[in-house]
Amino acid sequence: MAFLRASWNILENYEFIAGTMGDAVPRAWRSWPEDVRIPVARPRLPAASDVMPYLERIDASRWYSNGGPLVCELEARIAQRFGVSSSRVALVANATTGLTLALEALEVPRGTLCMMPAWTFAASAHAALAAGLIPWFVDVDERTWSLTPALARNFLREAPGTVGAIMPVAPFGYPVDAEGWDELDAAEECAVVVDGAAAFDSARACSRAVVVSLHATKVLSAGEGGFVVCRDADTAVGIKARANFGFSGSREACINATNAKLSEYAAAVALASLDGWERRRAGFRRVAQEYAAALHGIPGVALQPGYGDEWVSATTNVSLPNGCIDPLEDALSAGGFGHRRWWGDGLTAHRAFSNCPRTRTAVTERLSATVLGVPCWEDLPNDAIVRIGETVREVCGR
Ligand SMILES: Cc1ncc(COP(=O)(O)O)c(C=O)c1O
Repeated sequence: MAFLRASWNILENYEFIAGTMGDAVPRAWRSWPEDVRIPVARPRLPAASDVMPYLERIDASRWYSNGGPLVCELEARIAQRFGVSSSRVALVANATTGLTLALEALEVPRGTLCMMPAWTFAASAHAALAAGLIPWFVDVDERTWSLTPALARNFLREAPGTVGAIMPVAPFGYPVDAEGWDELDAAEECAVVVDGAAAFDSARACSRAVVVSLHATKVLSAGEGGFVVCRDADTAVGIKARANFGFSGSREACINATNAKLSEYAAAVALASLDGWERRRAGFRRVAQEYAAALHGIPGVALQPGYGDEWVSATTNVSLPNGCIDPLEDALSAGGFGHRRWWGDGLTAHRAFSNCPRTRTAVTERLSATVLGVPCWEDLPNDAIVRIGETVREVCGR
C-alpha cells in the first residue's frame, strides 16, 4: 500500500498522463487509490490490434518518417474531412509547433503583436513567442468563452502596437465562427490563425490556417501530433518546409526551420484512431449528454453552448455560480472524483508572459473563478456522472 501511495503521489499531478499510459500502466498503479477513483481524464488511444495493420505496412515499406505513405494517407483523410485538397494539409509533431510554423509560413512580421484570448492554454502564447511575435492578451465573450470577430474588431482600435496576427481559440472544442474570422481576415492587415487544438470535431477550414492537436488528451489522437489546414497550398508547403529543416525539394536549407515532422508510427496511431472515430465520438457524446441530464435544473450551473448536441470534446467544463468552485473541488475530492481548472487563471497569470501587453480581462477572471473541469473520458461510467451531478447539486444548489 505504501508503494501504491508513493506511486500515486508521483502521478497525481499528472493524472491525464497516467491515463495516457492506459494498459501499459503497471497493474498496481491501475488500481486507483481510494481518494481518487475517477480521474479527471483517462485517454484511450486505439488498441494495439487496431494499430497493427498500419505497423505491418511500416515494416513492409521500411519508411519511418519524412512524409511516408501513412503520413500521406492521414493527410488525405484529414483533407477529405475538411473538404479541401490534401495539398492544403500539413501534419506536424504537435499543435504548438503547428501554430508557430503557420505564423512563420504566413510571414507575420516579427516583433508585431499577436492578439489572443487570455482564456486559453499556455501553448497559444508560447507558439506566438516562438514565431517572434508578442502575445497581446484580450478578453473573451461571456457566453462562448471565446474571442469573437466582433470583440477582435473593437480591440484592434485600442491596439498598443502593430497587430500582425490574431489567434482565436476554440475553447475546449467550442466551434469558432469561421465566416466571421474569414471576413475579418479579409478586411484587416493581419493574419488570422485559429488555435483549434481541441476542436477536431468542430473545426472547419477557415482563415489562413486552422491548427488541431492530436495529443493524447484530445478526441482524436496520435499520442503526440497535430495538423494544420491552410487556406492555400503555399502556406501548407511553407509549413512542411519549416517542419523539415527548411528543405524544399533539395537538401539545401532555404529558410529558418526546425524538425517538426510527424513519424509514420504516430500517423499509424492517428489513422487507427480515425478508423474508430464514429465510436469514439459517440462515447464522448454520451458523456456530454449524461452530464447535461445530471446537471439539469441546478441554478447557475451550465455547460458550454452546444456541447454534446453540436460538438464533442475530451474535456467537460462546468460553469458554476460564484463562490462554488472551492467547495465543489473539496466535495469532488472527498467523493473520489478528479477535477481540474484546465486553464488556471488565464494567460495573464503566467510568469512566463508577465511582460506581454493585455487589456482588462474581467470575463477571463470570472471564468477562471467559476469554470471547473470534471471527469471526462470516452468510457466514463454513467453512474459516475450521476454521482458527480449529485455532488454539484448538493454544493451549488443550496
Ligand atoms: C488551446 C490549446 N492550444 C494549443 C495546445 C497545444 O497542443 P499540443 O499539445 O498538440 O502542442 C493545447 C493543448 O491542449 C490547447 O489546449
